[in-house]
Amino acid sequence: MDTAEKLPFHLRGNYAPVQEEITAFDLPVTGSIPPELNGLYVRNGANPKSGSSPHWFFGDGMVHGVRIENGQAKWYRNRWVRTTKLERNADATDPSTMMDRTASAANTHVLAHGGKLLALEEGHYPYFLTPELETAGWGNYDGRLQTAFTAHPKLCPETGELHFFGYGPMPPYLVYHVLDRAGNLVHSAEITVPGPTMMHDFMITRDHAIFMDLPVVFDLQAAMRGDAPLHWDESYGARIGILPRRGTNAQVRWFEIDPCYVFHPLNSYVDGSKVICDVGRHAYMWRDSMNDFPPSYLWRWEFDLATGGFSERQLDDASHAFPRVDDRVSGLRHRYGWAVQPRGEGDMLSASASVVVRYDLATGAKSTHDFGPHAEPGEFVFAEASASAREDEGCALGFVYDRSRNASDLVILDAARPEAAPLARIALPQRVPHGFHGSWVRAHELE
Ligand SMILES: [Fe+2]
Repeated sequence: MDTAEKLPFHLRGNYAPVQEEITAFDLPVTGSIPPELNGLYVRNGANPKSGSSPHWFFGDGMVHGVRIENGQAKWYRNRWVRTTKLERNADATDPSTMMDRTASAANTHVLAHGGKLLALEEGHYPYFLTPELETAGWGNYDGRLQTAFTAHPKLCPETGELHFFGYGPMPPYLVYHVLDRAGNLVHSAEITVPGPTMMHDFMITRDHAIFMDLPVVFDLQAAMRGDAPLHWDESYGARIGILPRRGTNAQVRWFEIDPCYVFHPLNSYVDGSKVICDVGRHAYMWRDSMNDFPPSYLWRWEFDLATGGFSERQLDDASHAFPRVDDRVSGLRHRYGWAVQPRGEGDMLSASASVVVRYDLATGAKSTHDFGPHAEPGEFVFAEASASAREDEGCALGFVYDRSRNASDLVILDAARPEAAPLARIALPQRVPHGFHGSWVRAHELE
């Protein structure tokens, strides 16, 4: 048996970390990059500096970025996020790492807000990066941020506010926060939940913040015994809390739902008296162990604020991962959603995706781009052709690993015709390991 086969999935194949930080200029392009694309595609992921980590989610964060301008791929850079955890070479499960809010893995997401690039991981403070992906330091908003900072904040395209939350295994279990357009912390409100739920993501609409209080919970005693710190507990129940933006605990309306888990919603919006949430729903999560990871399917939840009614239905029979919408419709009615899917059925974490899918929620149609038998695409994000462009007028872009070449490209698809040959393929100077989330950061957001 090949020794590589004995490694857990997150340390082999294209999940294995890379050890070199590279800067490369004027990358080779096949096809043509739309000249209107001017910005930075950047994506975060776990890349343990020691070469090993006990779980895929725990490795040190490394960002990979490609700067695009005037139809050219100006540069590629990959950089570890230089956190206090990295400096100390500390383990993510070490209690000192969990207690120190600067000791982030900083590995989950990277996005721009208030003129800064934020590298995020849900248990700690944000780290700020320069436009060239060097680490500028951590922040806690003049000491006012007293909780962790989720890796999935929501940027309102209308107000420029960044809505986010902090959760953790010790009270307060959940606190809702808002940054104004300039990045000042202007609202914090504790939200009461029954226990230490693991809340990976949340939603906003134009009017609401929406929290998912679902039955994956921390078990501190198990953690102290060295067992999995998180597990499925159906007796915890499942409920969705909807409150006005910048609201408080007293204003939350809770809706009981069937137990399930959602790592990633696609988007949510208001439709009359209803709040519509399109989410990636797992039937359960980590029931037997933290390797017990059933696939997620696109579901629609409808909450009627007038009647208190709730209904849900599955929108797609095929599993998916990494659902995204055009950033300009975050919290507003979306027509399209982007995700990746396997060619057949399977576990989306350990059996890699093959296909990028564009859902048309207006018609129910699905368009797919199959990258072929050797290709493994990661998350794809939308980049609009102009500020006034339609939701399908632009590109979808993401990293695609090719097993046959042991190499990665940044691939740009036409958002209007995802099934067509890519508009451009940018060849990267090294393999980009499979990671988590990233962003298309427009040039003006880097200034
Ligand atoms: Fe995530």
